[in-house]
Amino acid sequence: MKKIVTFALLAMILFLGGQPVSAQNSGALALIIDHYAARNFLEGAIPAADLDRIIQAGVRAPSARNLQPWHFTVIQNQTLAKKLVSNNLDGNVIIVVSGPGDGKTNYVQILDCALAVQSIYLAAQALGYGSRIYTNPIDSLNNSMKTELSLPAGYSAVALIRVGKIQGGVDAVSSASSRKKVEDVVTYKR
Ligand SMILES: Cc1cc2nc3c(=O)[nH]c(=O)nc-3n(C[C@H](O)[C@H](O)[C@H](O)COP(=O)(O)O)c2cc1C
Repeated sequence: MKKIVTFALLAMILFLGGQPVSAQNSGALALIIDHYAARNFLEGAIPAADLDRIIQAGVRAPSARNLQPWHFTVIQNQTLAKKLVSNNLDGNVIIVVSGPGDGKTNYVQILDCALAVQSIYLAAQALGYGSRIYTNPIDSLNNSMKTELSLPAGYSAVALIRVGKIQGGVDAVSSASSRKKVEDVVTYKR
């Protein structure tokens, strides 16, 4: 019996070792490891129930001392959305995550907001949508669009996430970026 278990474990290790990373993961782990920023968004409305779940993922993010120092501005008005992301398509939704202060100084609150950003980004992909995080428009947003977007008083935008339909599968294959090697960015102190 012991030999059979050892053989089965060895066979599994050998099998998985020869697979691409994406084939080694399933469920939540696959999503966390194999996500990618969408390149080729499509037009098309996101059903309210899906959008609600995506927002809920942000609201449920962890935060230091559970202060939840964030606000989510969900932009479905395309005129406004295009002011932030010029090639935004009809149906794509822009979610602005903002936090107290200038969005640059309080690193713990920025980290909290960043976790909410990541949760929204991943939740959208879990539901089969494309998502992409943007920080390029943030300075301009904070300089001139806070009132227009009704950000809470004293808040500044930290990042935004674009969510939209994509052509399943094709986008992933054409778009996935490489990452640094594990051995180049990890130090073990044993
Ligand atoms: C904090 C942050 C800010 C980003 N800002 C932008 C941006 O302003 N514009 C953009 O096109 N992509 C932006 N991206 C997307 C990254 O370029 C993308 O996630 C990265 O290149 C990895 O590519 P991948 O999706 O192929 O894994 C941002 C991503 C992160 C995490």
